[in-house]
Amino acid sequence: MPAALQVFLRTANARVEQTLKEALSDKSPADTLFAAMNYSALGPGKRLRPALVYATAQALTSEEVLTACDPAAAALECIHAYSLVHDDLPAMDDDALRRGRATCHIEFDEATAILAGDALQTQAFELLVSAPMTSDLKVQLIAELAHASGARGMVAGQAVDLAAVDKALTLDQLKQMHRLKTGALILASARIGALIGGADSTQLDAITRYAKAIGLAFQVQDDILDVTTDTATLGKTQGADIARNKPTYVSLLGLDGARAKADELHREASEALVELGGQTRILQQLADYIVHRDH
Ligand code: IPE
Ligand code: IPE
Ligand code: MG
Ligand code: MG
Ligand code: MG
Repeated sequence: MPAALQVFLRTANARVEQTLKEALSDKSPADTLFAAMNYSALGPGKRLRPALVYATAQALTSEEVLTACDPAAAALECIHAYSLVHDDLPAMDDDALRRGRATCHIEFDEATAILAGDALQTQAFELLVSAPMTSDLKVQLIAELAHASGARGMVAGQAVDLAAVDKALTLDQLKQMHRLKTGALILASARIGALIGGADSTQLDAITRYAKAIGLAFQVQDDILDVTTDTATLGKTQGADIARNKPTYVSLLGLDGARAKADELHREASEALVELGGQTRILQQLADYIVHRDH
C-alpha cells in the first residue's frame, strides 16, 4: 500500500473509531446490547466507507472538513456494521466468523444480534442529526443515507441475494444485486463526503460515476476473495458463497472473467477521477486498493 494511503487511512480510522467509541459509550439498562454494538462496530474492519467520506470531502476543498466528516463517517460504519451483523445471522448467510472473530450472534445470541443491528441502524441517524453543519446539509445527508440503506438500496440487494440462492441469475441481474447490496452504501459514502466538501453538480456527477464503479468492483473482489483467499487472511470463512450456492461474479464469469470485470471497473473509476480533476490522489489509491486488496 502506498505510504500516502497508509497515513491517510491511519488518521481516518483513528477519527472514526474515536467517534464510534464516544457514540457507543452510554450506559443504559441494556448493557449486553451496548456490548454487542461495540463488538460489531469496533471490530477489526477495514473502515473503507468512512475512509471514502473523508477522502471525497478532502478532495473537493482545502477547508477543514474533518470535524464535519466524523459523525458522517461513523454513521456509514454503523449502517455497514449492522448490515454485517444481520448478513451473518442463521436466517441469512449463517456465518460463524467475521473479522477473524466469532460473529455477533455466536459471541452473544441471536436476539441480541438482531437488536444490536437494529440499534446500530438508528444510531447512524442520531450521529448525522448531531453533525456540526447546517440543517439543510444534514437533511441532504440523512436522505442519502436512508435511501442507500433501505428498500431501494442495501436491504433490497440483500433480499435479492437471499432469493437468488440455488438460482441462476443473468449477468445483469447479478450486477443489479451487487450494486444494491454493496454498491449503494459505498456510493452514499462518497456522495456524503462530496456534499460535505461542497461539491457542485458536475463534481457530484463525477464522484457518483467513480463511486458506482468502485462500489461494484468492491463486491466483485469480495466474490473473488471468497474463492482465492484462505480463511485466516479473509477473517471470514473461505468458500461461503459456494457452500450456499450463491450466484457470484466468479460463478458466472469464472475467476479470470471476474478479474477482468474488476479491472474494467477500476479503469472506469480512474476516468471519472480525471474528469473530476483536483486533489484525487487518495481517491485513486483507494480505487487501486479495492481491486488489489487481499481481504
Ligand atoms: C464486507 O464488507 C461485506 C461486503 C459488503 C462485501 P467489508 O469487506 O468492507 O468488511 P469489513 O468492514 O472490512 O469487515
Ligand atoms: C454482504 O455481502 C453485503 C452486505 C452485508 C450488505 P456478502 O454476504 O457477500 O458479504 P460477506 O462475504 O459475508 O462479508
Ligand atoms: Mg450475504
Ligand atoms: Mg455474507
Ligand atoms: Mg461475500
